[in-house]
Amino acid sequence: MTAAPAGNGTAPATLQVLHWWTSSSERKAANALAARMAEEGLEWKDAAIPGGAGLGAGKVLKSRVLAGDAPEVTQIIGVSIAEWAELGLLLEIDNAAAAANWNGVLFPTIQNLIRHRKHVVAAPLGIHRINTLFYNRALLAQHKLAPPQSWAEFQNVALRLKAAGVAPLAQSSEAWQVAALFETLLLAESGPEFYRDLFVRRDPAAAADRRTAEALERLRTIKGWISNQLDEKPWPDVVRQFARKEAAMMIMGDWAKPELVERGMVLDEDFACATAPGTSRYHLYSVDSFSMFAGDYRHMPAQERMARLLVTPAVQSEYNQLKGAVSVRRDADVSRMDSCARASWTSFAQGAAAQAPSLVHRMATDEASRDAIIAEIHRYFLDDKATPADAQRRLGALFRLFNLRSQGAFGAQNPDRRR
Ligand code: GAL
Repeated sequence: MTAAPAGNGTAPATLQVLHWWTSSSERKAANALAARMAEEGLEWKDAAIPGGAGLGAGKVLKSRVLAGDAPEVTQIIGVSIAEWAELGLLLEIDNAAAAANWNGVLFPTIQNLIRHRKHVVAAPLGIHRINTLFYNRALLAQHKLAPPQSWAEFQNVALRLKAAGVAPLAQSSEAWQVAALFETLLLAESGPEFYRDLFVRRDPAAAADRRTAEALERLRTIKGWISNQLDEKPWPDVVRQFARKEAAMMIMGDWAKPELVERGMVLDEDFACATAPGTSRYHLYSVDSFSMFAGDYRHMPAQERMARLLVTPAVQSEYNQLKGAVSVRRDADVSRMDSCARASWTSFAQGAAAQAPSLVHRMATDEASRDAIIAEIHRYFLDDKATPADAQRRLGALFRLFNLRSQGAFGAQNPDRRR
């Protein structure tokens, strides 16, 4: 790539980037992006806000925007993109997208995610797979256990490990991490169609369905495997627990992979990556992306150049390797991917029938509904006296409320309905 001049002489080439990548592997991935930008005469001014799944970043972003201090670039993902775009705050980067033929090279699901009312308002970075099962190869081998592929096998492996004094699963009780486990269990039980009924259409009948009850039961069963060590650990601490061999398995998005490598573990030797039991045919995805704020048009040339750079094959390949995600491009070179990435990319490439949008990672519904659903799942998880039927009733009530809201009963708009 040739180094272009920093701008038209007056345009500032420094872009402040707000994001939530603060673990050591995430840091490396962000640094690689900053380095590629520097080669292009663009300076990445870092504004990292800690908090898994963007918990802190979302709040900081809102208060900064309200204070008239929006960063030039920000990590916003999924349905949140439409929410911000609807307010008229995001830069339309159609020119950058057209010049680099994003229509031709990006997966259709990615194109839908980054577009709002026919305009491109985000640059996609990578696709994470949420339904990933990591397992410690030596620990399973030592107990003569194969990685579980179904719920029955999962239960059997967990019970055998427990009996041998090995913690089956590393898992945090932090709300978003519990909900991520639940969405994986739900997908396993039901498949993408039902998953969408529950989390995208938010159909009260889906909340009352026996498949939802079953997934809730399973969440409770899993809690029993981990009850001694349950606390609200940030995700890198859960990864550390797994890396120290304090648990044999871990269900987590594939950003855990480079973090395990940071801890000295080797993929396919010390640990392996499989799909969560019952989900081998599905890809539960979260797509990272950066949007640009439109406030100050002097930044536009630099913002457009950054957007374009992020989607180039070279940046896609380098960044995604470091991040543990996979390329958003249909023409990505699978031969250069590791086993985990190859399986993820190939599964995602099968298209919408295999794909399920992560609720927790904002791919399924608007922020307020997402937060409320996560809170209900967490509440059920923490309170052993709550039955699946209780949780189902509460979810059903929430859904009815959301539906009223999106029909305009409260004057609010629901960006989901336009999708
Ligand atoms: C997701 C994001 C990932 C990773 C993860 C943990 O929302 O897509 O890149 O940061 O949160 O914080």
